[in-house]
Amino acid sequence: MTRRVLIAGNWKMNMLRADGEALATALASGVAPGVAADLLVCPPATLIASVAAKLSGSAVSVGGQDCHMNESGAHTGDIAAAMIKDLGAGYVIVGHSERRADHAESDETVKSKASAALAAALIPIICVGETEGERDAGKAESVVGSQLRGSIPETATEDTIVIAYEPVWAIGTGRTPTVDDIAAMHSHMRQVAGSVLGGSDNLRLLYGGSVKPGNAMEILALRDVDGALVGGASLKAEDFLGIAAAAE
Ligand code: PGA
Repeated sequence: MTRRVLIAGNWKMNMLRADGEALATALASGVAPGVAADLLVCPPATLIASVAAKLSGSAVSVGGQDCHMNESGAHTGDIAAAMIKDLGAGYVIVGHSERRADHAESDETVKSKASAALAAALIPIICVGETEGERDAGKAESVVGSQLRGSIPETATEDTIVIAYEPVWAIGTGRTPTVDDIAAMHSHMRQVAGSVLGGSDNLRLLYGGSVKPGNAMEILALRDVDGALVGGASLKAEDFLGIAAAAE
């Protein structure tokens, strides 16, 4: 079992060019040599190319935050997976809860997008997670299990995708599940994803939702947690690198 930790930053709809390039430059120069984790930042699509240029030759990779499910065509305003790849990205987030909510993306849509990412040789980071009401009703594991079964494409293998568990109520709120709850959910996810993929020993499962330098170590220490998807704390080089250092 050799799952390398992945610390992924999701910049969401933040940063104009000067700030994004400055953050990328700070990450490139601040990352510890021989860092024990894979590092990734997902800037808005407008900045993928310039951030990739600033990070070139560093230990930090670049990804997108979303892609269209089709290869090309009449989809005004949308961006194909191959276009993101073309800018220097290696990953793309799909099915983030903000897209599931703001753009009514279903599991079926997320699955098509993940499939398009794989076809473009990008690693999709497929996001799942329950709402607060679903957790309170004792349905968190069944909701996440059903999202996994609905969102993982047939073409995926345990080596070609990443899954991120992000409880909707933990995103941007400063609240996190207990480490026991995270551990239980990740173990459940490894079992469900394993039955879909035919194996999950190599599958990387990230936790996301209010990850900070102060809580990263206890979360990353959990057996089935293979990294973090970080929103707010990825907008400051010091915080993001602090989380990466917790992976040691
Ligand atoms: P947060 O966001 O770290 O700001 O909670 C995480 C995410 O939405 O990916």
